[in-house]
Amino acid sequence: MGSLSEGKKLTQPDSGKDTPPDFRSLKEVPASYLRSEIDYNSFVNLIDSQAYVPVVDLADPNIIELVGRAFQTYGVFQVTNHGIHMGLIKDTEIEARRLFSLPAEQKLKALHPPDGSAGYGLTRFTPFFDRLMWNEGFSIMGSPIDDARKLWPDNYTIFCDVIEGYLKQMQELSMKLKRLILASLGLTTEEDLKMAGLGPSGEFTEGCITALQLNHYPPCPNPKQVMGLAAHTDTSMFTILYQGDISGLQVYREGVGWATVPPVPGAFVVNAGDLLHILSNGRFPTLVHRVLANPAHNRISLAYFYGPTPNAQIKPFSNLVEPGDVPRYCSMLWGEYINTKAKHIGKALSLVSNIEQKQTQEGGCLYEEVG
Ligand code: OGA
Ligand code: NI
Repeated sequence: MGSLSEGKKLTQPDSGKDTPPDFRSLKEVPASYLRSEIDYNSFVNLIDSQAYVPVVDLADPNIIELVGRAFQTYGVFQVTNHGIHMGLIKDTEIEARRLFSLPAEQKLKALHPPDGSAGYGLTRFTPFFDRLMWNEGFSIMGSPIDDARKLWPDNYTIFCDVIEGYLKQMQELSMKLKRLILASLGLTTEEDLKMAGLGPSGEFTEGCITALQLNHYPPCPNPKQVMGLAAHTDTSMFTILYQGDISGLQVYREGVGWATVPPVPGAFVVNAGDLLHILSNGRFPTLVHRVLANPAHNRISLAYFYGPTPNAQIKPFSNLVEPGDVPRYCSMLWGEYINTKAKHIGKALSLVSNIEQKQTQEGGCLYEEVG
């Protein structure tokens, strides 16, 4: 078992940027996590957060309009009546808890390789922040079987069966949501979709890539000075997040501040990512969000990211660009955007913009300033 000193050692700058500590053995928060105090009072009580994250019923006859309005105004909504059994969602959450409660040295056997993101480890954008974040994650791209074997050599099938069941349901839900999102942008017929460079059902012609990220936010002895997950946008077209019963997720709105997304039993949070912002020619904002650390709970979330393969050609849908106007974003390969974001995180969108002044400053993070 890890000791406090081992935990501290693991969070030294050279090794700590890629290996989570053994949170259970940490009796105090290492300096590498501490920020100046987060001002809770300025956002938690000020805002009626319900008003900022609409809850929509997937069976509502006006669903296209509701989805369009929610995404255009807020970049996020919660969806109920989505048809995914609560039993499967709970089983997936149980499997995630089982994974994160394994001994630290066992989890490290599935540590993701330095050049890949599948497997166990710190949040993918940790290197951009000068403070570590109070979470550990497990990322699944394709089949979970290889990593599950490393975690449970004799008993990996339970985990794999549940995860594969969840992935299948997420795939179906993401197709439904994608059709609604496209319809809300005026792309309904096969002809419209073809003009937008999509297949007859709205699929990316080169195929899609999805990832399921299991997140664990352990109880934190000093939550006022520690961030669960620092402010960021998702690179995906959209993300389907299950946040369980424990709050922590917050969304940022220009001119308003941070609002907590209240857990709605059985609902998924659906948020727009950078790709949808680009495709919609800026009509749908990409959602800036973060997760607070909490003092008491082991919070689990399941984030499913939906997007195309890196070789897809991406540009704003032409029906959303006024005749004679320049599209707000360049035409590019999706992989080029992913690489730009991997280098410049919060500045990637302005770097591929045809309109906004390009920012050239290296490093740092734009979103730190809005916190
Ligand atoms: C993410 C994310 C939110 C949460 O994984 O990108 O924003 O509630 N997660 O864990
Ligand atoms: Ni996110």
